[in-house]
Formats: sequence, structure tokens, C-alpha cells
Amino acid sequence: MSAEHAGPSGSLSFVTPPGWATAMWAHRAELLVEQAHLEKKAASAALALLFRLPAGTGHERALSSLAREELVHFERALKLLASRGIDFAPQQPSIYAEQLKRAAARTMPGRLVDELLLGAIIEGRSCERMQLLATEFAGGDDELAAFYADLVAAEARHESLYQQIAADLVGADAARQRLATLVAHEASVLRSAPFAPRLHGGLPDTQPDTQPDTLRAEVGGG
Ligand SMILES: [Fe+2]
Ligand SMILES: [Fe+2]
Repeated sequence: MSAEHAGPSGSLSFVTPPGWATAMWAHRAELLVEQAHLEKKAASAALALLFRLPAGTGHERALSSLAREELVHFERALKLLASRGIDFAPQQPSIYAEQLKRAAARTMPGRLVDELLLGAIIEGRSCERMQLLATEFAGGDDELAAFYADLVAAEARHESLYQQIAADLVGADAARQRLATLVAHEASVLRSAPFAPRLHGGLPDTQPDTQPDTLRAEVGGG
């Protein structure tokens, strides 16, 4: 797999094959409902972190701006749902985020750093998969392809910001080491996750355009 599939910072070890996005074509409506839920959750998580950051880190404005940006994404998803006549219905959340959090430290200050790094991982994974969706949907559903393509750059910035805040809190080396541990955990979560019409689900059993041996290819041994 090329590095472009490994997240904007290259920090993710599990690489999603393009066949995953091919399998998502039939689930566009459900994915879009989930995207609205995910953006709302992302805004809420950013606000929660804003309140928990120690005063004076200098990241308040950037984090506030990130939270606003997630709300804009939420509104864009809602608008797309409305224009397509799809209800913004309640949805069983993916187990991905919950399983990621199981690896987080239980006590402070490690807990806050882990939540920032897990936030970075989620943003990076979203970015990787939305890029695949944008590529896959182009030509078949250009409006949706453009929506995902627009979000990619923003989620890449969010990944970087969360990594930067964590590095400022504990130092770059400690943050990098901890990130490597959490990235390995994320890879194991995705390896064992069932296929689902979700942005952060497991891989489909059947990959139309990919040889079986390469389906679960990873780099970095994560
Ligand atoms: Fe977003
Ligand atoms: Fe984001």
C-alpha cells in the first residue's frame, strides 16, 4: 500500500485497502447518517477537551476553532441528508471509539494525553477513509464525493492539532512513544472489528478489486 493510504501524518499502521470504499457504495445513506452523528460527537469531544486543558497552553483558540469546524461539518451532513430525503435517525454507534478508549490511562495526567492522542488517531483514520470514499464515489455520486473530499483536509489538520497539544503537554518524545502504543492498539481493534456500514468498521470479507493476501496488509507491524 502506498503512504497516501496511511493517514496524513503517516502515523497509522493499519492500512485500509480501497476495496473497503467499494463495499461502502451500497451503504451511502447509512454512512451519511453516521457522518452527521460523528461530526456532532467530534464537536462535543473537542469542547470537552477545551474545558479540560490546563489554562495557558496556548491552544484554546485552535481547539475552539476545531470544535466550530466540526459543527459546520455536522450542518453540512444534515443539509445533505435533508436534500436526499434521508432522516437523521438515531443509530447504533460503532464500537470503534469505545474499544479505542479501553487502552487509555485511567488516571491523570496520562488520561488527558491519551484522549488527545486517541482523538488524533480517530481524525487520522477518518481522514484516510474519507479520502478513499471521495475517490470511490467520484463519477457515481459527485456531490457526496466532494463532501468527503472537503472534509479530508480539515480532519488532517485536526489530527495534527491533537498530536501537537499532546506533545506540548508531555514532550515530543513521550507523546510519540505513547502514540505508537495507541496506534498498535487501534490496528488490533480494526483487525478484529466486524464489517459494518460505518466509517470506522472492519474490512469487508469480499474485496472485489484486491487479492485476498493483501486485504489486511499493514505497514509498521502495528
Ligand atoms: Fe469533521
Ligand atoms: Fe475532525
